[in-house]
Amino acid sequence: MNEITVLDREFSVYITEDEIQSRITALAEKINEDLKGQDVLFFGVLNGVFLFAADIFRQINLDCQVSFIKLASYDGTSSTGKIKELIGWNEDITGKTVVVLEDIVDTGATLERVIGELKLRKAAEVKICTLLFKPEAYTKDIPIDYIGFEIPNNFVVGYGLDYDGYGRNLRAIYKLTK
Ligand code: XMP
Ligand code: MG
Repeated sequence: MNEITVLDREFSVYITEDEIQSRITALAEKINEDLKGQDVLFFGVLNGVFLFAADIFRQINLDCQVSFIKLASYDGTSSTGKIKELIGWNEDITGKTVVVLEDIVDTGATLERVIGELKLRKAAEVKICTLLFKPEAYTKDIPIDYIGFEIPNNFVVGYGLDYDGYGRNLRAIYKLTK
């Protein structure tokens, strides 16, 4: 399945299932090492992160909890810039070590919003872990602690990422072909 169609667009395989899974193992090992002895809250940004969060969380061996918020800034294949908060915050994170889990950091607008909220709510320490990062699109200067793959500024789907809601169930990550 190298070439696929999602709705009206064609995509070709970009990061295979094996590549994704071995990178996740490496990220989890690094987080287990760096945060050894700490009580950690993993904080996933829905919807796109649900598969990544499930896969990495199962490889964490710290005392840890997981929670999710739902935000959206994307419409079709480009960022709208406006972020709607869809599901709010109900977690007491005061004094906690929080690892924000993202499927992809594009402009960084979503991330900035999430980090701002976590600081307001007095998290002791905030780390950021994203499966995908688009350095060419990134407009913020918040450092990202754990990055799965740096990718060019192309639209991608699969492994939780969607094109208008479809394609999330693909096991690999696919990029839009012209
Ligand atoms: P920002 O611009 O706030 O965007 O960093 C982050 C959110 O936008 C979505 N996003 C994508 N979704 N393929 C997708 O399916 C992409 O190439 C893509 N780029 C950004 C994603 O929800 C992310 O959390
Ligand atoms: Mg999304």
